Amino acid sequence: MINMIFLGPPGAGKGTQSAYIIRDYGLVQISTGDLLRQAVKDQTPLGKEAKVYMDAGQLVPDSLIIGLMKDRLASPDCAKGVIFDGFPRTIAQAEALDAMLKNDLKTEITQIISLNVADELLVERAVGRRSCPKDGKVYHIKYNPPKVGGVCDLCGTTLAHRDDDREDTIKNRLKVYHETTSLLKGYYGNSGKFTEVDGEGNPDDVYVKIKRILG
Ligand code: AP5
Repeated sequence: MINMIFLGPPGAGKGTQSAYIIRDYGLVQISTGDLLRQAVKDQTPLGKEAKVYMDAGQLVPDSLIIGLMKDRLASPDCAKGVIFDGFPRTIAQAEALDAMLKNDLKTEITQIISLNVADELLVERAVGRRSCPKDGKVYHIKYNPPKVGGVCDLCGTTLAHRDDDREDTIKNRLKVYHETTSLLKGYYGNSGKFTEVDGEGNPDDVYVKIKRILG
């Protein structure tokens, strides 16, 4: 069974590549960013607390995120194997994940894939990202535009621009990534399960490299 972690800065393509993996391997994607955006939309207490951090491009506190993940992992669909997208982002989250998988699910992480993309490209990718509020499909105004400007190919819904995809917020998110989340490369580096992948080619080419790792 595959339980993989996607590490990588904002806009590296973690969500885009997860869609290919779900199609081919039938895994469940758990994106803490998506779970948080849903909580914000539903105006839950967690959503209200998280929104302040998300709007500033800061990490939501570990205690909230770890609780959120524990609840999500209790769902039976996780037995199919999981893509962890955007989690863990701190050493404390990584340690908590190891413990949850071992103690609650009697399993472990099988691969950690780190997508590498230069900062200038990441800013362009995030500023140009648009997504469908209904089905979550992700587009880019230049690299992956919808067939008809501004609306989802699948359902015709008007595409949205994420609040935290403004250039100043993205720069904060990148700073947080370099100062905190990138330390996870050291945490996983000697595990024998860690691979860095160049994420700068077109999405299909990046996926070819990922498929080689997943087998
Ligand atoms: P989250 O939603 O996780 O955002 P992120 O990690 O910053 O990642 P993104 O969703 O921005 O990018 P992605 O790598 O998925 O790129 P995508 O495939 O969409 O987190 C948001 C916030 O929530 C955080 O800032 C934080 O506040 C909070 N949070 C979440 N998890 C947390 C945690 N664990 N702990 C604490 N706080 C947490 O691609 C981007 C764009 O580029 C798209 O338009 C796409 O079409 C395009 N694109 C993709 N690949 C390519 C390619 N190869 N070539 C050209 N264009 C491409």
